[in-house]
Amino acid sequence: MNSHKILILFVIVFGLVGCEQASKGFSLPIGDPAQGEEVFLSMQCLSCHEMEGYERPESGEDKLSVTLGGKVATLKTYAELVTSVINPSHQLAEGYELSDIQHEGESVMPVYNSVLTVEQLINLITFLESRYELEPYTRTEYIIYR
Ligand code: HEC
Repeated sequence: MNSHKILILFVIVFGLVGCEQASKGFSLPIGDPAQGEEVFLSMQCLSCHEMEGYERPESGEDKLSVTLGGKVATLKTYAELVTSVINPSHQLAEGYELSDIQHEGESVMPVYNSVLTVEQLINLITFLESRYELEPYTRTEYIIYR
């Protein structure tokens, strides 16, 4: 093989590796969390959600309260977060009484798609993502009887 062919081979191999990485996942551009927080507050997400560090508007006793953010055992993927905002009924949040969070299979969460601009969505998701923290891993202790 002459050096010219080797060079072409390199370009092809590295070109392919590059493609593979680029196609691994899809995400929107990184947004601005401070502006995302403004969206979160102005859209009144807190009327149904609670989030550490945020006061809820006149919270009554039996108010719907789905927790967002905080320490979790498994982080939501970027795609899951986006999906839960643009298509809330796709996968309902776990750990809640079904009758509280859905009606005839549809999430009670409003669909904001015609309300949010793409820029607001990008910022909102960046803000939400920054509010989750992975819980430190704790080992299960086993007692072995012999
Ligand atoms: C009228 C009540 C209501 C409002 C307002 C509301 N949500 Fe929700 N949201 C829910 C309910 C109920 C769920 C649980 C069912 C589901 O997963 O759709 C939920 C689920 C979610 C989840 C997934 C949580 C999980 O643990 O899976 C996210 C993220 C979320 N909402 C974000 C938002 C954001 C951001 C806003 C404001 C733009 C908002 N919600 C406004 C009721 C609401």
